[in-house]
Amino acid sequence: MARWSKISVVGAGQIGGSLAQRLAEADFAEELVVTDVVEGLPQGKALDIEESAPILEFSTKVWGSTDMKSIAGSDLVVLTAGLARKPGMSRSDLNAKNAVIIKSHAEAIRDYAPKAIVVVVTNPVDVMAWLVKKITGFPRERVIGESGTLDSARFRLFVAREVGVAPRDVVGFVMGSHGDTMVPILSHCSVNGMPLRQLVSEEKIASIVKRTKGGGGEIVALLKTGSAYYAPSASQFEMIRAIARNEHRLVTSSAYLDGEFGLKDLYLSVPTVLGSKGLERILPVELTADEKAQLEVSGKAVRTDIDILNSLPQ
Ligand code: 2OP
Repeated sequence: MARWSKISVVGAGQIGGSLAQRLAEADFAEELVVTDVVEGLPQGKALDIEESAPILEFSTKVWGSTDMKSIAGSDLVVLTAGLARKPGMSRSDLNAKNAVIIKSHAEAIRDYAPKAIVVVVTNPVDVMAWLVKKITGFPRERVIGESGTLDSARFRLFVAREVGVAPRDVVGFVMGSHGDTMVPILSHCSVNGMPLRQLVSEEKIASIVKRTKGGGGEIVALLKTGSAYYAPSASQFEMIRAIARNEHRLVTSSAYLDGEFGLKDLYLSVPTVLGSKGLERILPVELTADEKAQLEVSGKAVRTDIDILNSLPQ
């Protein structure tokens, strides 16, 4: 596969900076552009990352800009710009403010990088991905949200620590919204094929589910000044690597649903196959009646946030 010409990371905050570092080191593209509205921030982080090239042996050119025109010709754009949560806030509390930021960035992507695949990270991510799809007019293959990969990583880690095995040996995923109504899928969780329920008590499983749902909030409460970025950027990296290398990886990402799982015209995390075209397909995994009901609740929560967004002055 030909190497990409350009990746753009919009937003040079903690997630944007740490993702840009991972992407530069992976050498996926000729150029990596980091943008932000704060003069000096994207330029400074980009140069700092690029100065590690001789040691880490990558050749990607990394540069920063405050001008969104710098994303022109990108093969992939990651949207991380926006406010992060502070203690006591839900992701939905960011809805109105981040929508204003995302709207203008989505217009810039539509105008300057019309062929790009867009990975949306800004919270509330399922709603922001919906907004980006609406504004760009891009097909669902090219607008994907990151959250299921992150929630699944947290779920798998907590199971691994409980069972006492390596985190990578836990197979499991989380569906639904990136919020309180997310749905850890217990019916398909295993330790390399051994069903979770044969290894862990119902009581312990309940506490793993609770901790997974509050995983982002747990970090916010500890950091106090912002939200997580190491595991989020690793999760975005997993998705982007699958696209850059055309790996056809099965990962859980927030995808536009058009009838799948009985839901329409909204984004939720579902099992997706990612390759060079972006979203290749959504896997119709079989869920229990309880999981289906929980997914419906999750869909309603996202729908409520979309309705709030639609009711705001445009
Ligand atoms: C999280 O769950 C930032 O929403 C992200 O940590």
